[in-house]
Amino acid sequence: MGFRILGTGSALPERSVTNDDLSEFLDTSDEWIFPRTGIRSRGICTTETLDELAVTACRRALEAAGVSAGELDLIICSTTSGDHLIPAEACAVAELIGASCPAFDLSAACAGFVFALDVADGYLARGRGERVLVVAAEKMSRLVDWSDRATCVLFGDGAAAAVLGPDGENPLALRLTTEPSVDILHVPGVAGSSPYDATERPASVLAMEGRRVFKFGVNAICDSVQALCEQAGVAVDDIDHFVFHQANERILSSAVQRLGIDNAKVARALEETGNISSACIPLALDRLARAGELKGGQLVVLVGFGAGLDTGACLLRWDRPGD
Ligand code: ACO
Repeated sequence: MGFRILGTGSALPERSVTNDDLSEFLDTSDEWIFPRTGIRSRGICTTETLDELAVTACRRALEAAGVSAGELDLIICSTTSGDHLIPAEACAVAELIGASCPAFDLSAACAGFVFALDVADGYLARGRGERVLVVAAEKMSRLVDWSDRATCVLFGDGAAAAVLGPDGENPLALRLTTEPSVDILHVPGVAGSSPYDATERPASVLAMEGRRVFKFGVNAICDSVQALCEQAGVAVDDIDHFVFHQANERILSSAVQRLGIDNAKVARALEETGNISSACIPLALDRLARAGELKGGQLVVLVGFGAGLDTGACLLRWDRPGD
């Protein structure tokens, strides 16, 4: 007994900011950014709220699944950059789409979508409900320091969602890991104004050790793919689609090379989205689904990795009704 994905949807902000646009106020260039990252542009929220982006992605996923908001039994939102600290972003989504089920957020940085799939799987397996909406929504533009060219050029905003139902066979394999380390990649919490707080509060902007993240990312992908294949008893060559976290093209190409897999099987969206944290994987999945590239019975590997250092990986058999 497991879940099946009934439908997917995604949404990007209207405004696409190119590398050339960034070079108008930062000492950077397309010649520096593109060869090192594979990113040409990223969607950045201007007038849209993250609530609105998330809702658009959710409505598209619900429509693709043929499920109404009233039929949902649970909403999980993966985010680290929501419009609200309280309540959960998922509660705002529930209100705006007209759902009345429990709703909560899950924070596992860029690995959040796969962590949320595992939580949803448990909910369905325990018979708590039959329809779960998992949405990943990220407004990274509010977390980065826009004067730091080493980080702000890497990220973008976006949202993507999947509707899950029961009676599938997924996940065929799943692996969540944490190598605890805060400093490699983190955003300090808001300082607040407590008159009792005597701690030092750094600015609440994203900081990372890029090269260490790079190595961690390549290892996370390669170790996860091997572990999932062993768990499920399938060969790496049998996998039809690899949907990895879209942090950096050079991380993807290093992993492709080390695993010896067919480059054409690796989903890519980051050239025009940048790194949208936990929304990367469901957005790339949605694009594959809408392009008709996911055929019934095909094997799909998802690997998300990021701050934590968390890694979430799962092997799915694509069993959306009608594909
Ligand atoms: N434009 C121009 N120059 C830049 C830029 C930029 N946007 N960013 C950094 N530089 C400069 C630096 O100032 C530095 O100059 P200096 O030598 O004069 O001091 C030089 O380039 C090298 O800087 P590094 O930070 O050491 O650059 P590096 O070669 O490590 O490349 C990069 C940075 C591309 C981010 C790399 O570390 C990387 O690929 N990291 C992978 C991690 C990643 O992509 N993280 C993103 C999100 S994390 C996640 O999702 C899990």
